[in-house]
Amino acid sequence: MYSARPHERPTAFDRMLIPVQRWIWSDADRRVQKLLRFSETETDGGRDILRAAEVTSDPLLRRLYLEHAIDEFRHGVLFRHRAAALLKVSPCRSNSGFQGDWLTPGGHGLDDLQVDGESDSDMLAFLHLSEKAAASRFTVYRDVMQHDPPTRAVFEEILHDETFHMNYTLTQLARVEPKRHRRHLWRARLSRLWKVYLRLATGLSGILGSMLLTIQYFVLLPPFAWLAKRAARRELSGWTIVSPGGSESLDRQY
Ligand SMILES: [Fe+2]
Ligand SMILES: [Fe+2]
Repeated sequence: MYSARPHERPTAFDRMLIPVQRWIWSDADRRVQKLLRFSETETDGGRDILRAAEVTSDPLLRRLYLEHAIDEFRHGVLFRHRAAALLKVSPCRSNSGFQGDWLTPGGHGLDDLQVDGESDSDMLAFLHLSEKAAASRFTVYRDVMQHDPPTRAVFEEILHDETFHMNYTLTQLARVEPKRHRRHLWRARLSRLWKVYLRLATGLSGILGSMLLTIQYFVLLPPFAWLAKRAARRELSGWTIVSPGGSESLDRQY
């Protein structure tokens, strides 16, 4: 599904992270793992949107959601095929460590989608913001992928769809809620902001926890090790002679 409208510019936050993204995507193993994770996110998102098509009572939305779900499934396949092609060229050697997922999660954040019990307007507001975020990130990923033209082409292709998803969800939100669509957008924005905060806080607390444990290991442990060594040196080696008659008490060893 393609849109004639131009792509969104990446957000200031995504632009700020371009050097980090360039570094993350420069490694072939990390690229494969990220593509596989994106594939899962897209497929899961497609499944949720399919559910949204089932529960909505609006026939136009149902048709659009179905097309949207098909797009997301296709994105999942595209990412998986690209990851497989990369794996064929150079099999993954190891788990590539830092992926920066808490900093910039895969694609949409559609994994946060709760379909049942959501009104059409809340669903559209959520989808619009998710697709907008995806369009912004995929623009950055495409731009940092100069060294890998086939992967860049995958992002370019998917980006067209994400831009269409971003636009149709906004148009439909304005149709379903002509007067209050801005309020729905703000509510969805605040909810996303809260989730971003939780994601960053979890990631940072993980890093801080590791740092504190490392500091404790190097600062607190050496004095105890030194004291234990000194105590060990004072210990008499071998058997200890116990004075006769001194071992009658049942409360102590000697
Ligand atoms: Fe997608
Ligand atoms: Fe999408």
